[in-house]
Amino acid sequence: MTDGDRSVELEECVGNPGFLEERVRGSGGPVAAACAEATGVGGRDTGTEYTQIRPYAGMPKEVLLLYSGRARYRAPRQVLFWLVIACILALVALTVAIIALSPRCMGWWQVSPLYQVYPRSFRDSDGDGVGDLRGIIEQLSHFEYLNIKSVWISPFYRSPMQDLGYDVEDFRDVDPLYGTMQDFEELLTQMHNRGLKLIMDFIPNHTSDRHRWFNLSRSRDEHYKDYYVWTDCNASAPRPNNWVSVFGNSSWTYDEVRGQCYLHQFLKEQPDLNFRNPHVRQAMIDIVRFWLEKGVDGFRMGAVKRLLEATHLRNEPQTDPRKPPESFPSEWDLHHDYTTSQLGLHQLLQEWRAEMDTYSREAGRYRFMVTESYDHEEVDKTMMYYGSPLVKESDFPFNFYLLDLPQNTSGLWVQHLVHLWMTNMPSGRWPNWVVGNHDTPRIASSAGQSYARVINMLLLTLPGTPITYYGEEIGMENINVSLSQMQDLAGKYNASAGRDPQRSPMQWSSNMNAGFNSRTNVTWLPIHPDYNNVNVESQKEDSSSVLTQYRFLSHLRQSELPLQRGWFCSVYADANVFSYLRELDGLDRAFLVLLNFGKEAAVTDLSSVDKLPDLLTVVVSTVPWTAGRQFPKSSIPSAAGEGLVLQYSSQQRFNAQPAAHCYVSEKACYLGVVNLLYKC
Ligand code: GLC
Ligand code: MG
Repeated sequence: MTDGDRSVELEECVGNPGFLEERVRGSGGPVAAACAEATGVGGRDTGTEYTQIRPYAGMPKEVLLLYSGRARYRAPRQVLFWLVIACILALVALTVAIIALSPRCMGWWQVSPLYQVYPRSFRDSDGDGVGDLRGIIEQLSHFEYLNIKSVWISPFYRSPMQDLGYDVEDFRDVDPLYGTMQDFEELLTQMHNRGLKLIMDFIPNHTSDRHRWFNLSRSRDEHYKDYYVWTDCNASAPRPNNWVSVFGNSSWTYDEVRGQCYLHQFLKEQPDLNFRNPHVRQAMIDIVRFWLEKGVDGFRMGAVKRLLEATHLRNEPQTDPRKPPESFPSEWDLHHDYTTSQLGLHQLLQEWRAEMDTYSREAGRYRFMVTESYDHEEVDKTMMYYGSPLVKESDFPFNFYLLDLPQNTSGLWVQHLVHLWMTNMPSGRWPNWVVGNHDTPRIASSAGQSYARVINMLLLTLPGTPITYYGEEIGMENINVSLSQMQDLAGKYNASAGRDPQRSPMQWSSNMNAGFNSRTNVTWLPIHPDYNNVNVESQKEDSSSVLTQYRFLSHLRQSELPLQRGWFCSVYADANVFSYLRELDGLDRAFLVLLNFGKEAAVTDLSSVDKLPDLLTVVVSTVPWTAGRQFPKSSIPSAAGEGLVLQYSSQQRFNAQPAAHCYVSEKACYLGVVNLLYKC
């Protein structure tokens, strides 16, 4: 019998359950005998005879065990075993090393501009003249077109609209003017389906005087009586102290029902909540939770510096002590030592932050917080909202300093405003840039239309999150509002403080009502007369439009690492030009941005910047025919209001120079061979 025949027969015998059974019992029954005869195995001394069999597929365990102990099987097995262990350990070490070496992934609130929608004015789907949530749903593709991932929608809570939604009657309901809760839920779902994030306004400082809490408080309901800030006062001259409202006049109003005065830092229809009352704190946390449960991605916390007031109610110092104290001063006549930035305020924000963070633990659902506080020359107060390395607050406080840009359109001034933020920001934090919102005149009007492009270029090429108020992407301007058209009560107190001019309907097309609505001729504020040219539809067709450039830069910012997370280094500023570069260690490709904010054309000589190569290539210019051209660094021409992004290739780093004016949020280096970013 050949070896081959024998193993075939062996397989048959082993495959025969009778053989196995008899062998295990050691009975040497008839099957075993037949097999033993066929194979010469399974006789009396099976143990020794098995050793003569060669291993084969499907060996029973008993046979297998006889072989497994032999050195020629044991050794490779052990080698394999330790090899697997070593691989696992190496993989774990590699994973730990990659985690330790990787720079932080950028959050969704960092990778694209943040776009502010003022819902009254964005798009009116039902033709009542006022924008609504369904209108926003209709225009979601606009955000995708602009490569925008996060959208802040100004308040749409139920409201008597004295402050156009910033006076909230019910924090858990949608105002019928804007739609229903179902509309909101659909908006959120559709946004999430498109990868868009929704940020809501949270308005903790006050409610509407029509809020249920206020009605219960003024009638001294046991639970609600201290929900607001009440004090005794004289009904005929209700001024317990000299505090003033942001909108002018006393911040105290006498309430006949309760027979006391209540505090309101804004309109008298917006009583301030009393955050020294733990019930109020809890009630507001519950509201934060309510919307987080619904799935919103973050909050813009409004008017935060006014959350607490001093309990002693002493007069605030006048900026001009010679003024007669009985005159009604405006906000600017007092130092707000007792009505803003009081001790305890940051604890409130930290509490809300902690609440949001518990929801951020849901995978991929980071909840974002931005705070609104105008601190003017007290920039350190603004920076406190970043929190500390150990205690988190907002992801960033709004940077309102660029709102001062129109005061002096010059390169030096813009450089000063940019440095103001960068030098004061705590290290490692993320900047942001605001040039407009529903409270401030439109930048294209205050700086001038000819600067709209260069300002957008500034925002989209600086480090940090650019913030875009609706319409800035097409260069929308303020409207003129007559007294009879005025909607903003703040303007009724003080015409120059009215905010209607910057709230006019979005200009979508040159159709009726600029495409804001298509069913009626009514719009809640007039449409800007320039809508025939300044509108989304026609600017999409025009390669030199504000919109086309915005979109190009928004994509460029996302696709180019140096723009997204590289160093920012100021290299030059004069009366016209502000110039900076963006570079990333390890990456040869870098960008020089040169912006002319002045009133004259300029030819800039950057030959003293020795790290720059001699020739630079224009990637994009606000004067389109310049794109693709090359300029020597010794003479870069720019027209007034022109902005240029130039590209160059160099292994030399500007940020490595000791005297360089450079900033980076979190340093990362690029390793070209493996296309990897690492902490360095
Ligand atoms: C916020 C809003 C502003 C509003 C104020 C009072 O600051 O931005 O529009 O008037 O709060 O609610
Ligand atoms: Mg307050």
